[in-house]
Amino acid sequence: MAPKTLAVAASLIASTFNVMAPTVVNASPPGAKDVTAVLFEWNYNSVARECTRTLGPAGYGYVQVSPAAEHIQGLQWWTSYQPVSYKIAGRLGDRGSFQNMVNTCHSAGVRVIVDTVINHMTSGSGTGTGGSSYTKYNYPGLYSFYDFDDCTSQIANYADRWNVQHCELVGLADLDTNEDYVRRAIAGYMNDLLSLGVDGFRIDAAKHIATEDLANIKSRLANSGVYWKQEVIYGAGEAVQPTEYIGNGDVQEFRYAFDLKRVFNNEKLAYLRNYGEVWGYMSSSVAGVFVDNHDTERNGQTLSYKDNAKYTLATVFMLAYPYGAPDINSGYEFSDTDAGPPNNGVVNACWQDSWKCQHAWPEIMRMVAFRNAVRGQGVTNWWDNGNNQIAFGRGNQGFVAINKEGGSLTRTFQTSLPAGTYCDVQSNSAVTVNSSGQFTATLGSNTALAIYAGKSSC
Ligand SMILES: *[C@@H]1O[C@H](CO)[C@@H](O)[C@H](O)[C@H]1NC(C)=O
Repeated sequence: MAPKTLAVAASLIASTFNVMAPTVVNASPPGAKDVTAVLFEWNYNSVARECTRTLGPAGYGYVQVSPAAEHIQGLQWWTSYQPVSYKIAGRLGDRGSFQNMVNTCHSAGVRVIVDTVINHMTSGSGTGTGGSSYTKYNYPGLYSFYDFDDCTSQIANYADRWNVQHCELVGLADLDTNEDYVRRAIAGYMNDLLSLGVDGFRIDAAKHIATEDLANIKSRLANSGVYWKQEVIYGAGEAVQPTEYIGNGDVQEFRYAFDLKRVFNNEKLAYLRNYGEVWGYMSSSVAGVFVDNHDTERNGQTLSYKDNAKYTLATVFMLAYPYGAPDINSGYEFSDTDAGPPNNGVVNACWQDSWKCQHAWPEIMRMVAFRNAVRGQGVTNWWDNGNNQIAFGRGNQGFVAINKEGGSLTRTFQTSLPAGTYCDVQSNSAVTVNSSGQFTATLGSNTALAIYAGKSSC
């Protein structure tokens, strides 16, 4: 059944029960702040400065950094995803700058997640970014021919589990994660990162690793309960499904981002009334969500910064709505989808040298504190115009309105907020809620409004 049909059916059910006191299950990242800024291809010194300057003060719980291991040389971003050793010696910084970044982010109250490439090594041969020489299937001192899977052809059939998990993702040497030595070597790398203070891992290409192999590797970690977020891209009819991985930790719910693009481009925001599990998604408590990531902003499967206001409003919605743990993708402008980071990953300042800094766009950044303030509250007081104007509360803690239409929206909104003056963190202007919980406001075309308890002045 199409999600759209599900949405309509379930919204009828939801309206029947909308007097029930809603509570929500928070997603899994430990702590009270569940938003992650993904600083894609930022070097570690730049990440450290951003933790102190922006991420900590804004209320981000986590920063996710691009892969740390030594990788093939080259200017393209995807060189980071082709490791040749487990030395911390990539484009983005050495061991010292990595350690300093973790310490600095921790001091700013921000935990660190590392994008971790453990499904494969590189193909080809040469010398890596840290000086290690390698050939395909031979990475001296780490892996040799015996440590790779028997299938050396490219993955070609997603309906065949064995093909997906034993053959080569775009021709990259596929580690045999069923082997004890390989599991030990991968756990060794991850334990090294843990010894530097890392708080979590995003497991790249997890779909191509059997879930029991990942469980075994995780069990070997010094902190086997560490935060764990797996990239398992949903595909209809595929042999390997995202839900297989929830026993290990969180799983990225790609359908959330795919559907959000379709709704914002071609459907109605009113359908988002019951966004989440009833659309067929994994449980909120194990779902990692995003409007886009570094792959989908390039392949067009989701919205991206190139969608301007639509992208901003979709991100505002994601942060306001209680489903999953959100990632904010923060990258750089590109026309060539292979192009690597400006300045080799050095960010001198946001909005310079093509760095987009989505995590610091005021409309997005200020919603992080909104999300933290309304944590644990369900959706209340939903309103929509049957089209692309929506509004909803988060219990008695917050309220948001989104107008994705060509004209302005003037309305008296019903909230569950205590009477008082609030700061609309979208327009940075005051909103007064009266003793009936109502306020009147005008939203321009393609703008939003968001107020929350504890933010009484701008
Ligand atoms: C609150 O504001 C609404 C809209 O202006 C108004 O209709 C309502 O009477 C007000 N309630 C109180 C108690 O002032």
